[in-house]
Amino acid sequence: MRHSAPTHWVVWACLIWLAVVATAASLGDSDTTDANEVTSTFQARGTKPFMLRVLPLGASITQGYKSQDGNGYRKWLRQQLRYAGWEVDMIGSRKTGTMHDNDHEGHVGYRIDQVAKIAKKSLKQKPNLILINAGTNDGLQNYKVGTAGERMDSLLTELYDAVPGTTIILSTLIPNGKKPVPISSISQQYRDLAAKRRAQNDSLVLAEMSTFIKSTQLVDGIHPTADGYEEMAAVWWAAIQEADTEGFLRAPASTATSNGTISKAREKALDDSTDDPDLPAYTAPAQPTGSSNGQVKAAQMDCLFLALPAVLGRLTSRTPYPQLANHAQSVLH
Ligand SMILES: *[C@@H]1O[C@H](CO)[C@@H](O)[C@H](O)[C@H]1NC(C)=O
Ligand SMILES: *[C@@H]1O[C@H](CO)[C@@H](O)[C@H](O)[C@H]1NC(C)=O
Repeated sequence: MRHSAPTHWVVWACLIWLAVVATAASLGDSDTTDANEVTSTFQARGTKPFMLRVLPLGASITQGYKSQDGNGYRKWLRQQLRYAGWEVDMIGSRKTGTMHDNDHEGHVGYRIDQVAKIAKKSLKQKPNLILINAGTNDGLQNYKVGTAGERMDSLLTELYDAVPGTTIILSTLIPNGKKPVPISSISQQYRDLAAKRRAQNDSLVLAEMSTFIKSTQLVDGIHPTADGYEEMAAVWWAAIQEADTEGFLRAPASTATSNGTISKAREKALDDSTDDPDLPAYTAPAQPTGSSNGQVKAAQMDCLFLALPAVLGRLTSRTPYPQLANHAQSVLH
């Protein structure tokens, strides 16, 4: 029994596509990443190819407001990076906290639009890694909450334009006891934004802060406890490892004050400790993916369901399901 010609063609196209996709997937195995496997524990010290010029960017949580030593997550994270073998220079126009390398760009009370303005102060230092936690004040002030994601998107564009090749870790917001609804809306906008940016191949990883840090780990309904700040460091660290695994991280550019290297003596002066900070164990969820990616996966499944009966149909001389063939045809077009 003969199939109609278009159905026949689609079945073969499907089989070839599935074979190509399967081959590409097996060849690309070492490149593909599963964020679920990125955990914050058991990271051995290794030699890294370049230094990280890290810009902690945001508001009071970035500063480490209400933490006893004033370092917030920053000291924990720096120590973890150093323990893992990265040379680190934290940058920013402010210096607060007891840690030696205490530069940052965190400003108490700042909304996204204000963070975007102040960020310009640090960008001439050309960070190759930018950690953004901003938007809590937009939520607290009920300031244009519905378009927070758009303002963050503009900030991302500003950062990529000013420092081409930089890697951005975008944090969702930690739980908030004062304005939980706007805060979780902003986090959702960031997830969608991260999916969009990743679909267009921007060097961006989402740091999912909204679930690991609990609403019980807040000192004032807004700022984390010491444990909460330590957990934030674990989430940043998992996201940075994800960025490294995906090949996003690049050597920093030269600036007026740094040629992109850091001397051993200087690094030593900046260090508080390079011991294992023993961050809380954290397993990151998978990175958000764009809807276009989802559509391709769905089309592959359609193909699989089309191709299998086609092969079986050929073996048993029965017509494969024509309605599936028609559906797959429309998906492929
Ligand atoms: C993103 O990169 C992938 C793999 O290199 C490529 O197939 C795809 O076309 C790129 N997408 C965009 C929007 O540049
Ligand atoms: C960068 O500058 C330092 C001195 O500040 C120098 O020792 C080092 O060789 C320079 N590295 C490069 C790659 O130019």
